[in-house]
Amino acid sequence: MVNEAVIDPAGGEDSVNTGRRRFLTATTAVVGAVGAGVAAIPFIKSWNPSARALLAGAPVTVDISALQEGQRLVVEWRGQPIWIVRRSEAILEALPTLDEQLRDPESENPDQQPAYVREAHPELRSIRPEISVLVGLCTHLGCSPEMVAEIRPQPFDANWKGGYFCPCHKSKFDMAGRVYEGVPAPTNLVVPPHHYADDNTIVVGLDPEGAA
Ligand code: FES
Repeated sequence: MVNEAVIDPAGGEDSVNTGRRRFLTATTAVVGAVGAGVAAIPFIKSWNPSARALLAGAPVTVDISALQEGQRLVVEWRGQPIWIVRRSEAILEALPTLDEQLRDPESENPDQQPAYVREAHPELRSIRPEISVLVGLCTHLGCSPEMVAEIRPQPFDANWKGGYFCPCHKSKFDMAGRVYEGVPAPTNLVVPPHHYADDNTIVVGLDPEGAA
């Protein structure tokens, strides 16, 4: 079960855009903690860009030092939710077992991630194996999928290995944001441009120095 601390001041509306609208009406960064035994949801005070910077679509600097395994940090960049997730070893081991069920397991669509991410880990879709950075919008019609990170049977998939489920039209993505075959979403979730300023600091919106 996902313990999600998303602020939803709008709430209640039922349309394909509801998830996106909910995010856009939220005003601060939140953390979703997953898994039994994670009772408290720490608030990570790492994101505080100015309104002017947000308006300009400026890069967002995120401190991930407090991000624990299985947690998700959500920040906003260019009006989009950016998910930063620290994946467990079990999740990383499960990802390669899913390849045959996926539409683009090797991240061959160049529109969905920067080249340096694909070169680093095409199946993990990340610069560092354990840290996933994704735009949290479904590639079908833009809902914000739910994170269902536990490896256990789910009503929508008896062999679920963790991932993201979009309730709008039932698209499924794994914990690398790779889309399953046979769902409405046509492509993997987008990996935004980003780099590490140091071990605990991600800058979303800027490529690494020297990246093509
Ligand atoms: S918006 Fe249609 S499946 Fe996600």
